Amino acid sequence: MKDLKISIIGCGNLGLSIIQGLLESGIISASNLTATKRNLNPLSPLKEKGVQITSDNKQAVLTADMVILAVKPYNVQPILESLKPELKEKKPILISVATGITIQEIKDWTALDLPIFRAMPNTATDVKQSITSICLQGANKKEEDLVSQLFKSLGEVVYIPEDLMEAATVLGACGIAYVMRFIRAMIQGGIQIGFDANTASTIVNHAVKGASELLITRGEHPEFEIDKVTTPKGCTITGLNEMEHNGFSSSLIKGIVSSYQKIEK
Ligand SMILES: NC(=O)c1ccc[n+]([C@@H]2O[C@H](COP(=O)([O-])OP(=O)(O)OC[C@H]3O[C@@H](n4cnc5c(N)ncnc54)[C@H](OP(=O)(O)O)[C@@H]3O)[C@@H](O)[C@H]2O)c1
Repeated sequence: MKDLKISIIGCGNLGLSIIQGLLESGIISASNLTATKRNLNPLSPLKEKGVQITSDNKQAVLTADMVILAVKPYNVQPILESLKPELKEKKPILISVATGITIQEIKDWTALDLPIFRAMPNTATDVKQSITSICLQGANKKEEDLVSQLFKSLGEVVYIPEDLMEAATVLGACGIAYVMRFIRAMIQGGIQIGFDANTASTIVNHAVKGASELLITRGEHPEFEIDKVTTPKGCTITGLNEMEHNGFSSSLIKGIVSSYQKIEK
């Protein structure tokens, strides 16, 4: 893995998160990573860390065993079509993180039979805590293992059928924003009951991390953990029921379904 050469085409928010996570995990040496972008200024800090930076996508493909396409969805077709000769020559593993672009579209635009993966990470790649949903076509076991290893260095991985990729985008990638909003609301509540913003943030961030770790470590249903903290006639159940009377769960579910309906359009 350490010798694998990876090029990230279109190194914006997500591309940068992926590179930062990979550098921190140490599974790839900086000199084996190439990041491309037309405006290279924001990538200067990467250059200082030894990552190759360039605006030449063709050159980036020619030096890569694995190409991660991290441009906006509308840029995927023109970029892939412009890179056909280089992809044909190098036959890299191709990973697209672009929302809504199917494997069949990638095959049509490259006119090649490459090992193709779609991956849907989230911005927690930055701190190696992403959940990345992956689907694939045309890859062998070794290539699948390489891609798993890569994304496992950035967090957790689940393999799903391609027709669930949009649902995975909502739950895993948009999910970061939903949880952030939930955290913000808890902080606001914390300030109203007496904490300064910093202390409220510290308490809430760690309560959320602890709740999540409990579920991940024990594999129990959330309600099982809720039962443990709801004393009969106590303050927790009183607060929870008040939240539910105001549509807490219903509002979250409706929001998730609305995001899904929007992404499906
Ligand atoms: N953000 C998320 O949480 C998230 C999660 C999962 C998936 N995604 C998907 O990931 C993709 C990237 O999202 P993002 O938020 O990182 O977008 P972004 O910040 O706009 O990054 C895309 C980058 O592509 C570069 N680019 C555009 N045309 C290019 C070209 N011809 N050659 C090289 N680079 C080019 C742009 O920089 P220049 O203009 O300087 O070239 C830009 O920095 C999207 O398809 C999105 O659907 C995002």
